[in-house]
Amino acid sequence: MNVKTLVITTVLSGLSVLGWTQNKITLNADLGKDTIHPHIYGHFAEHLGSCIYGGIYVGENAKIPNQEGIRTDLIQALRELKVPQLRWPGGCFADTYHWKDGIGPKSSRPAIKNVWWGGVTEDNSFGTHDFLNFCEAIGADPYLAGNVGSGTVQELADWVKYTNHESGSPMTDLRKENGREKPWKAKMWGVGNEVWGCGGNMKPEYYANIYRQYATFMTDWVNSDRLFRVASGANVADYHWTEVLMRDIPHHMLEGVALHHYSFVEWEKKGSATQFTEEQYFKTMKTALRMDELVTRHSTIMDKYDPARKIALVVDEWGGWYEVEPGTNPGFLYQQNTMRDAMIAGVTLNIFHKHASRVRAANIAQMVNVLQAVLLTNEEKIIRTPTFHVMEMYNVHQGALHLPIDLQCNEYKVGVEMLPAISASASRDKSGRIHISLVNIDPNSSQDLKLDLRGWKVSTVQGRLLTSDKVQDYNTFERPDKIKPIPFKGANLKNNELTLQLPPVSVVVLELK
Ligand code: AHR
Repeated sequence: MNVKTLVITTVLSGLSVLGWTQNKITLNADLGKDTIHPHIYGHFAEHLGSCIYGGIYVGENAKIPNQEGIRTDLIQALRELKVPQLRWPGGCFADTYHWKDGIGPKSSRPAIKNVWWGGVTEDNSFGTHDFLNFCEAIGADPYLAGNVGSGTVQELADWVKYTNHESGSPMTDLRKENGREKPWKAKMWGVGNEVWGCGGNMKPEYYANIYRQYATFMTDWVNSDRLFRVASGANVADYHWTEVLMRDIPHHMLEGVALHHYSFVEWEKKGSATQFTEEQYFKTMKTALRMDELVTRHSTIMDKYDPARKIALVVDEWGGWYEVEPGTNPGFLYQQNTMRDAMIAGVTLNIFHKHASRVRAANIAQMVNVLQAVLLTNEEKIIRTPTFHVMEMYNVHQGALHLPIDLQCNEYKVGVEMLPAISASASRDKSGRIHISLVNIDPNSSQDLKLDLRGWKVSTVQGRLLTSDKVQDYNTFERPDKIKPIPFKGANLKNNELTLQLPPVSVVVLELK
């Protein structure tokens, strides 16, 4: 290194220590090879609190406008969002759910106790037909979670026949008797949920054997169902779990391996969803950004057994988890949704894009009124949360070609700890437009950013911005549009280089043509 280079490097690293690193993104528009699978934008609806009952399903005789019992305001909102895939009926509930309780005349369905969530009565009025018709109404692919913990192989095999086969079995006759002639052809099936915990407290070696047995009978052999079967995956950083599944399950029986990871302040002391300190915000973002490390390390193990990446990593539960809203049932997991959640959504989806070759499905937990919900309802009212807006702004990435980027950015510091202030991702859609999603998680500083566009000539740029004064801000039933996307006019284009400023706690999605 000569003296001049040494001086420049020293000055630059000094500036970086002082927080003056220039934020810079180099976008490699000619280097994309992986498609961002739309299913990464999947949702999750469990029989938990008011997610299904009240949130999605109100019944045909309700005053709230509905289509076969499903709220029409919700259907409209979910169509805006372009929900590609929806997981149901749980969660922990799935391993207590017996699907035959939820078919046939509603008045003769048995009522059960929801032992996982609040001990409330579950009358089974929302069942298989309701769920699969709901998926059709919103244009989402269904993802059914089978009961392994307390069910039987026969029960799950019957469910596949009931939903997917044309004719030729008592199950197909039963479906027709219940008013549905044509099968729904549901491809995606979970074989148990969290079987290391609420799904049966199993060891991975035992579960791998059980999985093989269940997966064998989830097909009719003659006319293969071509299911996408997902093994119940690791809890956060349980890498041994992934190793055993990849080693012990024959790969022709396995299309996906799940992973669950939630963001929180401290698991034992989650804190309020809305009244949190900057330190608590920082800790939440640190767990959210850990998704990158988790996905990388689980993928590395999968690569060892499946170098061609045929088996998907399916992050079928992710999102922020806080204390419930004061005065609500602790078993219902109802929480508000602030700009902190918008930050979690923005960075998490960017991480999934980066790993598009392995992460080919994911599910935010959950769709309505539970955990990091995109929609909150109160009787006839419905509001879109900041998380809704991020997922709607980002839906331009669904099915697009992921474009790799090099990102150099400032740190967001609290005390002695630091996180990258900016998260970014880019893709090119089928019509040739490039979209760049940018997140500034720093609640105190805006970020000036330069974007160098390699391998592509840009002529126009437009964008949308989601931000608010405070990271604790949220939408209420009284002020449903306090936080919503607005046009972003701050991008300047010169010589194929873009300069812009990201406000504190903001999400920007740019469209380049
Ligand atoms: O999403 C809430 C619960 O979190 C799910 O039921 C379970 O799978 C997970 O532990």
